[in-house]
Amino acid sequence: MVNLREIKANKEFSTLIEWANKCMEAMGYTEHGIRHCSYVSETTRKILVELGYPERIQELGAMAGWLHDIGNSVNRKNHGLTGASLAFPILMKMGMDIEEICMITGAIGNHEEETGCPVSEISAALIIADKSDAHKTRVRRGKYNADDIHDRVNYAIKQSEVVVDADRKRIKYSFKMDGTSSIMEFMQIYMSRMVMCEKAARFLGCEFQILVNGQSINNHVAVRGTKPVEESA
Ligand SMILES: [Fe+2]
Ligand SMILES: [Fe+2]
Repeated sequence: MVNLREIKANKEFSTLIEWANKCMEAMGYTEHGIRHCSYVSETTRKILVELGYPERIQELGAMAGWLHDIGNSVNRKNHGLTGASLAFPILMKMGMDIEEICMITGAIGNHEEETGCPVSEISAALIIADKSDAHKTRVRRGKYNADDIHDRVNYAIKQSEVVVDADRKRIKYSFKMDGTSSIMEFMQIYMSRMVMCEKAARFLGCEFQILVNGQSINNHVAVRGTKPVEESA
C-alpha cells in the first residue's frame, strides 16, 4: 500500500510543492512549502490518532495533509479543486487503490472555506490542521511587512498547539499572541476559517474551542445548556 514515505519521495509531488510555494511567494503570501505541508500532515495524523481512527485512515490523512496545497502551483483560486485533479493521476500511477485515492482527493478538494466542507474524517482533521497553522515561522525570512495584516497576525503568534481531548470530545486550538497584532486582526482574516474548523470538529463528534492567551473566544462549550442572562429591570 502506498504510504507517506513514498509520497514524500515522489519527484512529481515534491516539484509541485516547490512550485506552489514559489507561486505563493510571488503573490506575497506567507510560507506554503515543506514546513506548512509537514505541519498539516503531522497535525492531521495526530487528530486522527487521538480520536482513535484506524491506522490506515491516519496514514491517508497524513498523505492528504502533505499534498493539500499542490494546487497553488497552478493558481491560488480554487487550489483545492486543482490540487485534487493534479494528485489523482499521480496517485493512480503509484498504484494506490481507487477508494483511497477518492478519500485523499475529496479531502484536498474540500479544504478551502470558499468551496469546501468536511466530507470525511480525513477531510475534517485536515481542515483543522490547515487552518490552525498561524505562526511567526510562516512569515518569510527577511520579508516581514508591517503593513500586511497576514504578516502582523502570523508574526504575533509565537506559540500555538492543537490539543485533542478525546474523553471530553473537545479539540482545543490554543495560541499565544503578542502586541504585534490583536485578536481583532486575527478574526478579520481567520473568522471564516475558524467557523469551518468548528464545523469540522462537529463532523468528528467534537467541540472546537479557540483559546487566545488562555482565554476562550468562542464560548459554545462553556455556555451550552445554560440560559441567557436576563436583562435587569
Ligand atoms: Fe490551501
Ligand atoms: Fe494549507
